[in-house]
Amino acid sequence: MNRNAFIGIFDSGAGGLTVAKHVMELLPNENILFFGDTAHLPYGTKSEKQIKEFAVNDVAFLNRFELKSLIIACNTADSVARETLLKEFDMPIYGVIDPASRKAVQVTKNGKIGVMATTATVRSNAYRKAIHRLNRDAEVYQLPCPLLVPLVENRRYKKDDMVVRLILGEYLDELTANDIDTLVLGCTHYPLLYDAIHDLVPDLNIVSSSEEASKALVSSLTKTGQLNDEPGSIRRFYVSDDAEAFKKNADIFLGENITGEVIQVAL
Ligand code: DGL
Repeated sequence: MNRNAFIGIFDSGAGGLTVAKHVMELLPNENILFFGDTAHLPYGTKSEKQIKEFAVNDVAFLNRFELKSLIIACNTADSVARETLLKEFDMPIYGVIDPASRKAVQVTKNGKIGVMATTATVRSNAYRKAIHRLNRDAEVYQLPCPLLVPLVENRRYKKDDMVVRLILGEYLDELTANDIDTLVLGCTHYPLLYDAIHDLVPDLNIVSSSEEASKALVSSLTKTGQLNDEPGSIRRFYVSDDAEAFKKNADIFLGENITGEVIQVAL
């Protein structure tokens, strides 16, 4: 195993950068390869068959490089295509759903867990199944929130934005009516909405699938002695549609501007 090999990270778009952000903060020496399938965003409204095809193409692209591990930085792809990817590709594959479910089960006090996610993620029931594997008695309330990805993609996520408050408020009312004490942000776009959610419902435990996924990767690479101990790191960003548009919008997800090149590739 080459410790200098890349950690591959992919998503349908820029949302996966919220995972890349944490990985880059926690593991500054690692070489990171990011792919955003922006030509096909959003995945969350698509059929299972389509999402599986996209996910296989995304990983096939990243697999042209030497990878030491891969993160499915998309709840939708993780919930629908995980098994397919495990069958098709021989590499360590990390997801977002299991780590977020583990954290939710750890922090809930009343066992009532809400999940905000895309329509496809909710339809797959992946969160309910993952949470029930850990705690059969947990009550899981999953809500499709199709308006949130377009909002965030349009840089509308701040807590004082009335449109954000109105839309989020409606979703949160539906979930909190079930007396949940814990809310999983089951989409890698949603961590940007953390402050707005916290402002609207201050008492909720909010679990970010992006943060939990990166912590799980760090812990696994540490345990297996696969961390890159050489200083310096390569970060490469690839997309399947307009590179400039992606680069312009990346700062809100990554917490910083992409200084290097973003390269558009045809899959
Ligand atoms: N970031 C994706 C996820 O985590 C959602 C965006 C999309 O619908 O493509 O589910």
